[in-house]
Amino acid sequence: MSVTAVVKNCGILLESPYWDVPSQTFYFVDILGHTVHRYNPANGSHEQVNVGEMVGTVIKTKSGKIMLASKCRFAYLDWSTGALTTVANVDKDLPNNRFNDGKCDAKGRFWAGTMGPESSPAVVLPKQGSLFCLHPDKSVTKHAEDLDISNGIAWSLDNKIMYYIDSLTRMIEAFDFNLETGEISNRRPAVKLTDEEGLPDGMCMDTEGMLWLGCYSSSRVNRYNPITGEKLQTVMFPVTNITSCCFGGPNLDELYVTCSRAGISDEIVKNEQPLAASIFKVTGLGVTGFASNEFDD
Ligand code: BGC
Ligand code: CA
Repeated sequence: MSVTAVVKNCGILLESPYWDVPSQTFYFVDILGHTVHRYNPANGSHEQVNVGEMVGTVIKTKSGKIMLASKCRFAYLDWSTGALTTVANVDKDLPNNRFNDGKCDAKGRFWAGTMGPESSPAVVLPKQGSLFCLHPDKSVTKHAEDLDISNGIAWSLDNKIMYYIDSLTRMIEAFDFNLETGEISNRRPAVKLTDEEGLPDGMCMDTEGMLWLGCYSSSRVNRYNPITGEKLQTVMFPVTNITSCCFGGPNLDELYVTCSRAGISDEIVKNEQPLAASIFKVTGLGVTGFASNEFDD
């Protein structure tokens, strides 16, 4: 196994790793830098576009467009100008909220959750967030509220369970998931993190039904069995705040990992964590993931 920084120091709060199979490129966002990024491992090119607001999630659509969960809206992104076209607004009465993590389900719905303003990383105005779903007809439904930091989402191999993280619970939770209707129910704990493991942030599913979790504030990505709650493996990184991960590469067997330098002083970055806001690629894990679901537009 090897861990390599493939895009070095390219922002502040890097999030939303997304491997785009059609273009074989890797998308991610810098929430605090207001930018969406694209990295092409075949030629090493790295491009970015400023969208002018806090952008939480980037995904692709079936028709090839780029879609965001950004500030308090779902929107299309015009890559050449950075212009956003709003598809739907959320949290209209909470103007200081913003979208955080999101992902599309197997029926092409776009799920994403919000959070209140943070005074410093993980110190948030409590219970301001909600979990939303944008349907292919562009209607929006709300599925959970009173959330602190809405974060990672993933589905079981049979699509009967949706795994979900509200970071300050320090758990990965499970909902029963109805793939046909998009309803979730029966919220319950699936994995409980120890103090040493830090805060659960973003996650993805592998083809064996195991979850890979970016652990904020503990320098690691952990693999868990979400049925038993058991930790199976730990991969360590030379940075503190891992935010998320996703599988990518031609064979979907490389793990792309995002991290954050928000709240870490310039001095610590310089002397102790020179890669504090980088994209890492882990190879040789011996497992594969799935192609990302796209929004059904
Ligand atoms: C959020 C950050 C937050 C971190 C730790 C991330 O997903 O984007 O704002 O500080 O989680 O909970
Ligand atoms: Ca996250």
